Amino acid sequence: MARRLLVTGGAGFIGSNFVHHVMEHTDDHVVVLDKLTYASNKASLEGCPTGRVELVVGDITDAPLVDELFENVDAVVHYAAESHNDNSLDNPRPFLDTNIVGTYTLLEAARRHGRRFHHISTDEVYGDLELDDPARFTETTPYNPSSPYSSTKAGSDLLVRAWVRSFGVEATISNCSNNYGPYQHIEKFIPRQITNVIRGIRPKLYGTGENVRDWIHAEDHSAAVLTILDRGVMGETYLIGADGEKDNKTVIELILTLMGQDAGAYDHVKDRPGHDLRYAIDSTKLRTELGWAPKYVDFEAGLSAAVDWYRANEAWWAPSKDGVEAFYASKGQ
Ligand code: NAD
Ligand code: DAU
Repeated sequence: MARRLLVTGGAGFIGSNFVHHVMEHTDDHVVVLDKLTYASNKASLEGCPTGRVELVVGDITDAPLVDELFENVDAVVHYAAESHNDNSLDNPRPFLDTNIVGTYTLLEAARRHGRRFHHISTDEVYGDLELDDPARFTETTPYNPSSPYSSTKAGSDLLVRAWVRSFGVEATISNCSNNYGPYQHIEKFIPRQITNVIRGIRPKLYGTGENVRDWIHAEDHSAAVLTILDRGVMGETYLIGADGEKDNKTVIELILTLMGQDAGAYDHVKDRPGHDLRYAIDSTKLRTELGWAPKYVDFEAGLSAAVDWYRANEAWWAPSKDGVEAFYASKGQ
């Protein structure tokens, strides 16, 4: 039977991809609650069937509004967050407000209304791994976050666990690795470099570029979340990853090559303070217990499709390009 889902942060990168996924694969209705911060774009929801998606502009820390919205939905998928590490190093405060107080506000509403709650989180809560470490993160890896962003996400995960145990809230958590795909804000690594090349700006690599991220297509992340929402065991945590480990240098050179440029035509810039070295996900639990598997296993093909998307959707990203580059230039990046 069709559900009514409340999707927080549904006008952001991964949230909007999830809304499109739900439209395509279910009969569910979606209410998006989004503050429309700089990271959002209403245009990311264009193309959704009329009548099945409603956008409510508001803040997840607004308890009366959250209360009203929880009244009329069956389940909640919580994506809203301040999501960018570099911004959290510049000004941590909004990260505390949205990621901690916002999650608390939603959990209190889930408790009052008895609503199913799925919390979206990140692999960054586990800190980082050495480059030559054969280990990958699992659901039992101890929390060890490095940045203001990842520490607030870790805090939000722990709040969810406490609300499950102390108040019986019916919640699940997923921790996913680095996403790429359409609708990603151009402050992030991959779309920043693609749009740099389109604009004739040399791509920018932090430090040596040996840092490894475990890339997954946003569409695979959405399918995993829907699987957990449908079949996840209450109180459980699931790691989401697609075996996509790549170092940043390789990714930047691949982008340049795919875009017809010399693979070495990029600049090394100042490294990120506290820069996590490597993330790697072991998603065995999700695959064996819930039967999910990624579909976008060819990273080069997925990246090439992302290049095409940013080329075809310049109107979507162009208004923020100068501001993003001015911010990075002010930090020597
Ligand atoms: P994003 O920055 O692109 O989007 C965040 C959205 O949340 C925006 O639409 C913004 O307007 C909204 N928002 C922010 N503060 C809000 C508030 N107080 N009230 C209501 N809405 C608010 O982020 P993203 O990359 O799509 O990440 C979404 C979620 O997925 C986050 O929780 C993030 O921690 C998690 N995550 C991201 C990645 C990744 O690679 N991007 C990987 C794993 C997990
Ligand atoms: O691992 C999941 C996380 O992935 C999410 O929780 C975060 O919300 C998401 O932003 C992402 O965090 P990262 O810090 O890994 O992503 P970002 O795109 O900022 O950077 C990816 C890597 O690229 C990182 O090692 C820093 C590097 N980088 C980034 C930028 C913007 C560069 O070398 N040059 C750049 O211009």
